[in-house]
Amino acid sequence: MEQKEQWSSKLGFILAAAGSAIGLGAIWKFPYVAGTSGGGIFLLIFILFTLLVGLPLLIGEFIIGRSTQKDAIESYKELAPNSSWHFIGRLGIFTCFILLSFYSVVGGWILIYIYKGFTGALNGLTEVQYGTLFGETISSPFLSIFGQFLFMAITIYVVSRGVTAGIEKASQFMMPALFILFLLIIIRSLTLEGSMKGLEFFLNPDLSKITSDTILFAMGQSFFTLSVGVSVMVTYSSYLSKKESIPQSAISIVVMNILVAVLAGLAIFPAVFSFGLKPDAGPVLLFNVLPTVFNQIPFGIVFLLAFLILFLFAALTSAFSMLEIIVAVLAKGDDSKRMKYSWIIGLLIFVVGVPSALSYGVWSDVLIFKKSIFDAADYLVSNLLLPLGALLIAIFVPMKISKERLVEEISSGSSVGKKIFATWFLLIKYLVPVVIVIVYLDVLGVFDYFLK
Ligand code: PHE
Repeated sequence: MEQKEQWSSKLGFILAAAGSAIGLGAIWKFPYVAGTSGGGIFLLIFILFTLLVGLPLLIGEFIIGRSTQKDAIESYKELAPNSSWHFIGRLGIFTCFILLSFYSVVGGWILIYIYKGFTGALNGLTEVQYGTLFGETISSPFLSIFGQFLFMAITIYVVSRGVTAGIEKASQFMMPALFILFLLIIIRSLTLEGSMKGLEFFLNPDLSKITSDTILFAMGQSFFTLSVGVSVMVTYSSYLSKKESIPQSAISIVVMNILVAVLAGLAIFPAVFSFGLKPDAGPVLLFNVLPTVFNQIPFGIVFLLAFLILFLFAALTSAFSMLEIIVAVLAKGDDSKRMKYSWIIGLLIFVVGVPSALSYGVWSDVLIFKKSIFDAADYLVSNLLLPLGALLIAIFVPMKISKERLVEEISSGSSVGKKIFATWFLLIKYLVPVVIVIVYLDVLGVFDYFLK
C-alpha cells in the first residue's frame, strides 16, 4: 500500500484544512452574497447550514480520507469496489478545476492591489475614487489576466513541491495575524458615523426577506466556505494520522470558518452604510469598501497592505487544496509526476479561467443565463456542483461504510466521537440529503406549484 506523507502534527493538519476552508469564500464572497441576499437572515441560515449540514459532511469526508489514506478517487474505489461510486471523486475534481479557474481571477485582483498599494496608488482616495480605481483594474484585460496568471503560477509552484512543505509553517503565523487585522478594521468600521445601520442590516434577521434563492445561496455558501462536496477534505485527511480526533478537527474548522465570515461582515457592513454605499454591489464589495475604511485609520496604508497580503495568503491556501486534489490523483505519490502534472493542470486551469477574467471588461456583455461568465461559473460550482457532490457523499457514507468502521474512525483519538456518533449519523443519513433535495425542489418551484 502506498504510505502517505503525514502532517507533522495535528495542528498542521487543522491549519492546512482550515487554510483550505478559510479563503475567498468567507472573506470576500460571504459579505457580498449576504449583501445581496437579505443580510441578517442570510447570516442566520448560513450558520444553520454550516452546523447542521456542512459539519456532518466535513466529518464524513474526513472519515473517507483517513480510513483509506487514499486520494479522491482511490478512496471511493477501496470503500466500494467494483462500483461507480468513485464518480464522486471525479465530480469533485471537475468542480475544483472550474472553481480554481475563476477563484484565480479574484486572486489576481488581490495581487494587483498589493502592487498598487506598494506604488502608492491606493493612498488617500475617496470612496468613489476607490470604486473607480477597482472598476478600471478589473476591466483591464492585461491586468486581470496577468494577475490571474501570477496567482496560478504561485499555486502551481507550491503544489508542485509537495504538500506539507511550506503550508503548515506559514499558516501558524498568518491565520492569527488575519484575525488581529480584522479586529482592527472592525473597530474602525464600527466607530464610523452611521455605522449602526450596517450592524443592524447584518445582525438583525428580517424573516420577510427569505426567498428560495436566499436558502439556495446560503447552502451553496456553507459548502463553498467549508470546502465540502468536492473530496478536497478526503484528500487532506488521507494524510492525517490515526491518533487524531476527526470530530474535534472538524468542529474547530467549522468554528473558525463561521468566525471569519462574521468578522468579515462586521468589518464591511458598518462601513458600507456609513459611506452611503449599497450592500448589494456584488463581487466588488470588499475591494471598494475596505480601502476606504483603512484610509480612515492612521497609517492606514500599512494596515491595508498587511491585510491584502494576509488575504492573498488565505486565498492561496485554498487554491493549493483545489490543485492538490487533482495532482494527488494524477501523480499517485510519484514526485517527478507531481511536478509535471502541477504545471500541466495548473496552466490548463489558467486558460479555462481567462474568459472569467475578461468578464468584467471586454467580455462583460457575454451572458450565460443572464449572468456574466464569472458569475455563471460561480453559480455552477456553488449552487449546482457542490450540493450535488455533497448529496452523493451523504448517501455514500452511511451506505458504503460499515457502522463499525464509522464508529472506529470517529472515536479514534478522543472520547468526543463516541458521544456525538448517534447524532452525527442521523444528520448525515437523513437530514443532509433531505435538506439538499428540499432546497432544490423549492428552487425548481415544486412547492409553489402545490401551494397554489
Ligand atoms: N473553502 C474555500 C474558500 O472559502 C474554497 C474551496 C471550495 C476550496 C472547495 C476547496 C474546495 O475560499
